[in-house]
Amino acid sequence: MNDWLIGGIEAAFDKVCAQASRGGDFPHITQGGTWCTTRDGVWTGGFWAGLLWLGYEVKKSDALLTAAISFTERLLPRAADSVNHDLGFMFYPSAIQGWRLTGDQRYFDAALTAAESLAAQFNPQGGFIPGWGFFGGKDWSGSVLIDTLMNLPLIVWAVQHGADARLLDVVHRHAKTALANHQRADGSVFHVYKFDPANGTPIAGDTYQGLDAASAWSRGQGWALAGFAMLADMTGSQEYLAAAQRVAGYVEKHLPEDGIPLWDYRADDASPKDSSAGAITAYGLIRLWKLTSSTRYLDLAETMLEALTAHCLARPDSAPILVHATADLPHGLGIDESTIYGDFYFLKSLLALHGIKGRRDPDKGDTHGSLVQTSNR
Ligand code: GLY
Repeated sequence: MNDWLIGGIEAAFDKVCAQASRGGDFPHITQGGTWCTTRDGVWTGGFWAGLLWLGYEVKKSDALLTAAISFTERLLPRAADSVNHDLGFMFYPSAIQGWRLTGDQRYFDAALTAAESLAAQFNPQGGFIPGWGFFGGKDWSGSVLIDTLMNLPLIVWAVQHGADARLLDVVHRHAKTALANHQRADGSVFHVYKFDPANGTPIAGDTYQGLDAASAWSRGQGWALAGFAMLADMTGSQEYLAAAQRVAGYVEKHLPEDGIPLWDYRADDASPKDSSAGAITAYGLIRLWKLTSSTRYLDLAETMLEALTAHCLARPDSAPILVHATADLPHGLGIDESTIYGDFYFLKSLLALHGIKGRRDPDKGDTHGSLVQTSNR
């Protein structure tokens, strides 16, 4: 087993344990290296609860279990959010993981409710779930974000666990809208696509967090890759699998030599990095490898994770796991900082890789191997 991999996992667990012992609110992104926290978990609270569940699953620590329960329970009222396209981010790593590990029925019920709340935002005339309604003010009813794909597995899970099977139509119609409009011929994806909300007529590609409308915001490529790969896995769709492979092909061609994405693949080489895009993309590549057995995806994921471990681990005396993440450069938020979603997908990917390597080499001590199955989604 590689030393860098074990070292990265242990460094990440140390940070999770230290942050859990500090208590407080949900870590979101950093400013000057210090977590900005939120009381209600905004759209990212599920990732912090998810890190705590990953920590508990491996370390079996009572302190991590207590913290995981506490933060998960703080999110439960958000299951009824009626204007929030990120309910999958909020409830998959938290309530579903918590239910799997504890059997607590309240977590299961909340995850089902969250899936129904997400599906209820579907615009049947448009054929999509719009993004960013929670910003208020500006009309976002015709704007569809690539990020939303990553939230649809919550709905698939719900249908697999007793929700109305018609909710799957929402998943497939939204994903097909993204396939037809967000994905470009070169495999990259628009961050945002605008439609007429009255009838779904496509208007134009756009961006909010990327360099420009035609660019390839790197975290968006990661959300698309992982989102399509997860949906392919959960629904068996070859179309989603092919879409994920096209995004992966784009990343393979445009990833800088050091293995860490720039904040936007079309930004100039001196621009800030986005380690969170690297972590999310690596996670998507591992999912793609599981679906295709193509070693090129696993090798690229490993290259990216090794690069993050070598160049982006935060100092031991600071709170986050990864540095050099960029949350939202155009709006001046979290540039060359840390994000809780980057930290979550980094640890999740490292554990998945560790499990894969442990199964290939069972004599080398596979302490985390069993995680691959249980924390797969
Ligand atoms: N809006 C999701 C993200 O910043 O990645």
